[in-house]
Amino acid sequence: MWTIENIPGQTGKTALVTGATSGIGYETAQALYTAGAHVILAARDAIKAEQAASTIQAKGGKGTLEVGVLDLASLRQINQFAESIRKKHDQLQILINNAGVMVPPASKTEDGFELQFGVNFLGHFALTGHLYPVLKQTAGARIVTLSSGAHRFVAAIDFANVRSEKSYNPNREYAVSKLADLQFTLELQRRFERVGDKLISVAAHPGVTRTALSRHMPDAVYQAAITQFGELMPAWQGALPTLFAATSPTVNGGDYYGPDGESELHGYPALVKISDAARTVEAAKQLWEFAEHATGVRFPK
Ligand SMILES: NC(=O)c1ccc[n+]([C@@H]2O[C@H](COP(=O)([O-])OP(=O)(O)OC[C@H]3O[C@@H](n4cnc5c(N)ncnc54)[C@H](OP(=O)(O)O)[C@@H]3O)[C@@H](O)[C@H]2O)c1
Repeated sequence: MWTIENIPGQTGKTALVTGATSGIGYETAQALYTAGAHVILAARDAIKAEQAASTIQAKGGKGTLEVGVLDLASLRQINQFAESIRKKHDQLQILINNAGVMVPPASKTEDGFELQFGVNFLGHFALTGHLYPVLKQTAGARIVTLSSGAHRFVAAIDFANVRSEKSYNPNREYAVSKLADLQFTLELQRRFERVGDKLISVAAHPGVTRTALSRHMPDAVYQAAITQFGELMPAWQGALPTLFAATSPTVNGGDYYGPDGESELHGYPALVKISDAARTVEAAKQLWEFAEHATGVRFPK
């Protein structure tokens, strides 16, 4: 049973966590800080970010903290944020692509993409690409991207609907974004290997965890989910697969970690199942080319 007690010392490492103001991102940032890392809390709301930093600091730890404003629904802001990080840091050992939104009312990013696809996947694609120069010069840097068991609910991405051109189905669009996150993780690892980068791209999911992610779910649907899946895990436990992926010396590029319990809903970090759709190399290549074109960000090179 792997817990935060097993996190190796992180002193001397810099970690950037997106969506660090609540839920899994907050717990991840806190655990890395406690273990000695310099943690950059990236959040779209500067006040919430400062509050999260104060709370983490008040609990004590060996690390240091920095906050940055990052709205993943804006490719322009992602570019600006990454530039500020590149100016301040020449090393980044851990990038955690954690921020996410689930089943919101139909809405779009500043660049016109369906919000879940835009924030959960495309924003993190652009962020990773903009930070690639720093990651590349950091020996053994890791990129951890949050997917979900929901990635299995769709078999393919309809690129003709990523701006909701045809229709909007909130559950389907969430699943599409999480399939994209997993395809991205695996394709990034293949590309690192192709260009000879010694970087690690790995994915994680938190099973079913009690966080603010359910904020857009009607109460009845939320209650039905608890009846179906059982009581949700506390956020500290849901953060363990991410923390394992970010810090365990046993992790390999292309791994996917989640809870070890029945149907990957509850438990402690273990390797978990990747759907056939997420493993399909051709589909991932198509996603990558789409994302490069949509964001104008090209990497690794
Ligand atoms: N909880 C689960 O059971 C579960 C299951 C499977 C996968 N996941 C994944 O786990 C990750 C973390 O989610 P969580 O459960 O911890 O949910 P959460 O508590 O709602 O945290 C999500 C974080 O993402 C941030 N965020 C949302 N939109 C953003 C944007 N446009 N730009 C920047 N940040 C943004 C939120 O900031 P604000 O506070 O400002 O909104 C918040 O800090 C997500 O990728 C989610 O898909 C969660």
